[in-house]
Amino acid sequence: MSGRHVAADATTDLTLTVNGRETTLAVAPRTTLSDVLRDRLGLTGTHVGCEHGVCGMCTVLVDGEAARACLLFAVQCEGAEITTVEGLGSAGDQHPLQRAFSHHHALQCGFCTPGMLMSGYDLLAGGTYDEGTLAQDMSGVLCRCTGYRGILAAVADVAATHPDGVPAPRAAVPAALVGRVGGVSAGPVPETEEAPEAPAQVTVPSGPPTVTVDVEEALTSPIDDVWAVLADFERLAACLPGARMTADLGNDHYRGAAKVALGPVALAFDGLAHVVEHDPGEHVMRVLAQGADRGGSSTHAVIRLAAHATDVGGTTLRAGADVHLSGRIAQFGRALAGDVSRRLFEQFAAAVDEAARTGEAPHPSSGPGPLRLLLTAIRARLRGAFGR
Ligand code: FES
Ligand code: FES
Repeated sequence: MSGRHVAADATTDLTLTVNGRETTLAVAPRTTLSDVLRDRLGLTGTHVGCEHGVCGMCTVLVDGEAARACLLFAVQCEGAEITTVEGLGSAGDQHPLQRAFSHHHALQCGFCTPGMLMSGYDLLAGGTYDEGTLAQDMSGVLCRCTGYRGILAAVADVAATHPDGVPAPRAAVPAALVGRVGGVSAGPVPETEEAPEAPAQVTVPSGPPTVTVDVEEALTSPIDDVWAVLADFERLAACLPGARMTADLGNDHYRGAAKVALGPVALAFDGLAHVVEHDPGEHVMRVLAQGADRGGSSTHAVIRLAAHATDVGGTTLRAGADVHLSGRIAQFGRALAGDVSRRLFEQFAAAVDEAARTGEAPHPSSGPGPLRLLLTAIRARLRGAFGR
């Protein structure tokens, strides 16, 4: 902290590095760090609850240490490096803690989530993690929804999967730096949010999948024609409702895009698929796939396809998938997501049959579409619930 004297009604220039970006702005000496982050820089991920240092909602990292932003005057942080929850990771490049919170459903209203994430990061990065004292160590942030079990499970999960230390914050997220009041030299705000970077490698999360799908469909086409579709990834991708292949990356890696509109949730995924097994003799293939939506939803799946010739010259296509969902798409819950996934596979099988029969990729607009699939799934579930 500098020894400057500033009149209470005057402002002084303050330079901070926030999420990897240096920023200078004029602040009144009484302004708290939380107010500067939220009201001057637009980083509203730092929540404010009590403003008395009790609830921990405002936890950020100041020079790598967790601190309550409501208890610090911004001018105390001259020259400091500040990391907020926006710097921990972005929608397209989430920090493992963010992924774990999503996977373990470690939030209810979400108000405490930024403070919990930053506090959890501080604990894991500090090298003092101890499962036996985890609840106590995380008690500096209060959850008014009392959703502690998922929160502790998420932190414990990251501790277990990163025994050599938790990855550093991704930082450098200037898109959120918005000068709401004059005096900020944070540079222009990009007009549009960048689409999430598609990952270079497919990774499948540890832990149980959100949904497991195992369906079998009888196709009229002979097995050789069906396998010809499955062996041509471009035609295969065209059979997936709403999906298309955008690049063949070589080495059995493919980039693709998919649009899913499930009721009020409209998602545009960019993703990567890796064919890890493709056996023309046994007619089986296994694909790892992952996709991310710029709104923070993500899916990971291990997909197994197996084709068997039937006695009457057709093919039985069996599809199994372990699907991991996180973000908004996980709102649908396991049962409904399972129903929708099964119907998507049924539609996929029908499209494969058509492509095998015609020798062409199916028309992109054929099939009922994801929204219709969702409504069909809901109706079927309601009919099941009421015995009709
Ligand atoms: S808002 Fe800072 S501790 Fe409650
Ligand atoms: S999830 Fe609501 S305050 Fe923690």
